[in-house]
Amino acid sequence: TWSAVPAGPPDPILGVTEAFKADKDSRKINLGVGAYRDENGKPYVLNSVKKAEQIIESGQPDKEYLPITGLAEFTKAAVKLAYGGDSAPLAGNSVAVTQAISGTGALRIGGAFLGRFYPHAKTIYIPSPSWGNHTPIFRDSGLEVKQYRYFDKKTVGLDLAGLKEDLKNMPEKSIVLFHACAHNPTGIDPTPEQWKEISEVVKEKQLFPFFDMAYQGFSSGDFSRDAFAVRHFVAQGHQVVVSQSFAKNMGLYGERVGAFSIVAADPEEKARVESQLKIIVRPMYSNPPLHGARIAATILNNQKLYQEWEGEVKHMANRIISMRDRLYNNLVALGTPSEWGHIKSQIGMFSYTGLSQPQTKALAEKAHIYLTADGRISMAGLNGHNIDYFSECVSKVVKG
Ligand code: LMR
Repeated sequence: TWSAVPAGPPDPILGVTEAFKADKDSRKINLGVGAYRDENGKPYVLNSVKKAEQIIESGQPDKEYLPITGLAEFTKAAVKLAYGGDSAPLAGNSVAVTQAISGTGALRIGGAFLGRFYPHAKTIYIPSPSWGNHTPIFRDSGLEVKQYRYFDKKTVGLDLAGLKEDLKNMPEKSIVLFHACAHNPTGIDPTPEQWKEISEVVKEKQLFPFFDMAYQGFSSGDFSRDAFAVRHFVAQGHQVVVSQSFAKNMGLYGERVGAFSIVAADPEEKARVESQLKIIVRPMYSNPPLHGARIAATILNNQKLYQEWEGEVKHMANRIISMRDRLYNNLVALGTPSEWGHIKSQIGMFSYTGLSQPQTKALAEKAHIYLTADGRISMAGLNGHNIDYFSECVSKVVKG
């Protein structure tokens, strides 16, 4: 029956973890997937999460189904984190929201909703480059995916002029995806001033902004600063949609905690939109998982835990920054050809190193170091124990 089914390629990001797991060398390093690791290279369960779990456990909760759109204490708090406590659409009760199966699920619900109901376009523009899963998610949601310029190879920075030109050349009312902060894979974000310019062009062309916010807190260690783009766009009157993930900032990866929200015109429109979100979710998975949403809700709604969580996010962000400094210093000290300043200036979980595909292949084969083929490294995989080995191996492959 399945003789005509072709073998698919490994996933460009998660496939790297499979290759890493199969490697038996003790020096091996996984810099593929964006998952935080502590100073000893171990997965990190946040203390705020452990405490929230104790609180939940002590209440002896049941395992009943959640409503289709999820746990209300969670979704309410999630949109407050994204849009801000003083957000006008939140105060006006016009934000439709559903819990989602982390960021991927949120994007998928968003893609499906736009595919079904956005009347003006069926094409979504994503930055070049973007997270490897964006294209398949939106394609499978029934949208056509195109790209706009984002990364400038020459300056290893943002191609603001190219980005704005591409926005201006899009058909009016096109859907445009923006990474709210900590752009994946490049680690390059627009500055607040640049976001303001982008917002103006979006307004001029009446484009429809879709924000993917998977790393709130990871750019600056500050939730509000990282939400600047979303909040500015909303303040400018854009009716945005936002996907959120709590995988990275709460370390809830496998618990799959996320949210998808839509700014509607008024409470009545919000209610209609939310009723359709339910109709999209029900045939996919009926209702979302319980445990992770309870954890996130407990942290977001408890001032003490929230503060502890904030501190832990700052700690993760700072450890990554210290690794950037060490990697930069090492590569320069080793006389590694090329300019490496971008390693320090990029932000968030990743560094877009500029290593070529043959170089990344050589690192895997000769040094047991695994990263995605585009030369992206998850900085969180580096620590005091492996950074010197990593730097020496990179220096060697660059020298050829
Ligand atoms: C990544 O880009 O590494 C993360 O977003 C994890 C994933 O699912 O790809």
